[in-house]
Amino acid sequence: MSTPKLRACLDGIPTYKPGRPPATEEGGASGPAFKLSSNENPYPPLPGVLEAATAAAGSFNRYPDLACAALTTELAERFGVPASHVATGTGSVGVAQQLIQVTSGPGDEVVYAWRSFEAYPIITRISGATPVQVPLDADERHDLDAMADAITERTRLIFVCNPNNPTGTVVRRAELERFLDRVPSDVLVVLDEAYREFITDAEVPDGIDLYRERPNVAVLRTFSKAYGLAGLRVGFAIAHDPVAEALRKTAVPFGVSQLAQDAAVASLRAEAALLERVAGLVTERTRVVEALEGQGWTVPETQANFVWLRLGERTADFAAACEKAGVTVRPFAGEGVRITVAEAEANAILLRTAEAFRKEL
Ligand SMILES: Cc1ncc(COP(=O)(O)O)c(C=O)c1O
Repeated sequence: MSTPKLRACLDGIPTYKPGRPPATEEGGASGPAFKLSSNENPYPPLPGVLEAATAAAGSFNRYPDLACAALTTELAERFGVPASHVATGTGSVGVAQQLIQVTSGPGDEVVYAWRSFEAYPIITRISGATPVQVPLDADERHDLDAMADAITERTRLIFVCNPNNPTGTVVRRAELERFLDRVPSDVLVVLDEAYREFITDAEVPDGIDLYRERPNVAVLRTFSKAYGLAGLRVGFAIAHDPVAEALRKTAVPFGVSQLAQDAAVASLRAEAALLERVAGLVTERTRVVEALEGQGWTVPETQANFVWLRLGERTADFAAACEKAGVTVRPFAGEGVRITVAEAEANAILLRTAEAFRKEL
């Protein structure tokens, strides 16, 4: 019997691998188990957020505000952009998928660095477009010259992931502007800034400044990382028309729940607490990087809430050693391991495990 015909572009699409949860059942040798595999925020929602979410829970019988009006207004004011340039969605990955949908189909090309965010190849192929993966350079950074060289008349969209997931590396203002100058004005450049809040290097541009000057630049941000709302699925793009308008057309109707909308607004209003938490994680990041370097590891310079160790063939062994010790990390088979910087207790387990592993190399 034949089965329903599906689109051929779905063949061979890799499935998204979520970070492994900690092995609570077995328990770690060092006590409690921690998840360092999904770049989540280890802290609970910001002050005022649970109250807003709880209040929204009383109206679960109602559809959410289709237009996400309160959140859109809040974001427009925060960033000093027209409300019509803000497009919200089900996490920034949802908005990224829409950005591909509105620009790229069969025969079109989507360019991005590799390795980068693992959803890029998936959402590109779902649209039937062709992924063009440009290898990172020797320092695990975007090779922007090679990316510009990869542009053809079929290129419709380019992702620049800044900081890059999973390496944590950044591109700086001058090199990014040089790159943008080389991109034709009818090709959309998406600056994926999911980890923007963790950047401390003043030479890394705020994508929103670049968007202001360039109609073909869109910026992606999320409430999942620094704001700690990964489970609520809310992110947004800031883009000029006609891109922003196209995003509104292609949004899943009522995709962002009222709970997510209200929690996001409350999170934006808890800025002082956000900055304090981010500062704490950045301090931990410095401590983790310095400790790893002290143990002899090469750690690419990270501006995100995670670090990257290029372990090659030892990747799986390292991940297994971490799991045994009570922390799950994110292995990319044969390449390396991405480790989220979390609370001090979890980082300490990671550092002890890395030190023991290093001694056996
Ligand atoms: C670079 C990057 N972009 C986007 C996302 C998607 O985040 P969300 O869909 O939770 O907003 C992630 C999540 O890991 C990411 O690493």
